[in-house]
Amino acid sequence: MSTDKKVAFITGGNRGIGLETARQLAQTGVEVVIGSRDRKKGEAEAAKLRGEGLRVDAIEFDITRQADYKKVYDYFDKKYGKLDILINNAGISKEGFANPLTPSTVPVPVLRETFDTNFFGTVELTQTLLPLIRKAPEGRIVNLSSILGSLTLHATPDSPIYNFKALAYNSSKTALNQFTVHLAYELRNTKIKVNSAHPGWVKTEMGTDAAPMEIPDGAKTSVQLATLPADGPTGGYFHMGQPLPW
Ligand SMILES: NC(=O)c1ccc[n+]([C@@H]2O[C@H](COP(=O)([O-])OP(=O)(O)OC[C@H]3O[C@@H](n4cnc5c(N)ncnc54)[C@H](OP(=O)(O)O)[C@@H]3O)[C@@H](O)[C@H]2O)c1
Repeated sequence: MSTDKKVAFITGGNRGIGLETARQLAQTGVEVVIGSRDRKKGEAEAAKLRGEGLRVDAIEFDITRQADYKKVYDYFDKKYGKLDILINNAGISKEGFANPLTPSTVPVPVLRETFDTNFFGTVELTQTLLPLIRKAPEGRIVNLSSILGSLTLHATPDSPIYNFKALAYNSSKTALNQFTVHLAYELRNTKIKVNSAHPGWVKTEMGTDAAPMEIPDGAKTSVQLATLPADGPTGGYFHMGQPLPW
C-alpha cells in the first residue's frame, strides 16, 4: 500500500519530547508512528492520541537491538512504500547533569552504553531507513542533539553550559552533530534535509523538574525541522529556529 500523506517515524516516542512531537506533528496532518521499547506503553499512548482525532500508531522498537532496524524498514515499506520524516529522538543520559561523573572517572562502559543509543544506534537506524526516505518526495531527518553537544560553548567560560561537563552524554551529541553535517553533505544534491535539534532544557524524566521549559515547547524545534519547506536549511544545528554554534 502507498499513501500521498506524509508519514513519520519517531524513536523514543512513548513519553517526553518524543511523545509530544508525535502529537504536534500529527496535528499538522502527518501520519505518525512512534517507536517504543515497551510495546504496551507505546500502544496506549498512540491510542490516546487517536482519541484526540490524530493518526498515530506504535511499534515496538529498541535502538540497541539491530534486528529492530529491519523490522521498522519492513513496516514502512509494506504499509507506505516510503518514509517522509525520521525523528531520531531516543536518547539516554547515564551520568546525571547536576554532579556528573568527571571526565577522569567516567567508566568507559558508561561511555559505550551512551554512544550505543545516542550515536551508533541512531546512525545505523538512519542508514537502514535511508532507502525508504529517498522514496519520499522531500525527506526530512531530525537528530535530537543537545546544546550540550556544542564544542564552542563548552570552550567558552561565560556560556550557559560551561559548567555542565558530562562527557559521555555531551560527546555522544557532538558525534551526532557530525553525523548531521556529514549526512547532509552526502545528501546535498537530493531533496532530503538533515538537521540537529536542541529542544531546550525541558521538564521530562531526562530534563528533570528543574528545567525551565514545558514539554509542549520542547517539541517545537523537532516539529519545525521535520516540516521544513523546500528552501529550508540542511546540515544545521537549531533551537527554536535559531542556529547554535557547533
Ligand atoms: N529534556 C531535555 O532537557 C533535553 C535537552 C536536550 C536534548 N534532549 C534530547 O531530546 C531527546 C528526548 O529527550 P527527553 O527529555 O524526552 O527524554 P526522556 O523523557 O528520558 O525520554 C527518552 C525516550 O527515549 C527512549 N529510549 C531510551 N533508550 C531507548 C532505546 N534503547 N531504544 C528506544 N528508545 C529508547 C525512552 O524510552 P523508555 O520509556 O522505554 O525508557 C523514552 O521514550 C533525547 O535524545 C535527549 O537527549 C533532551
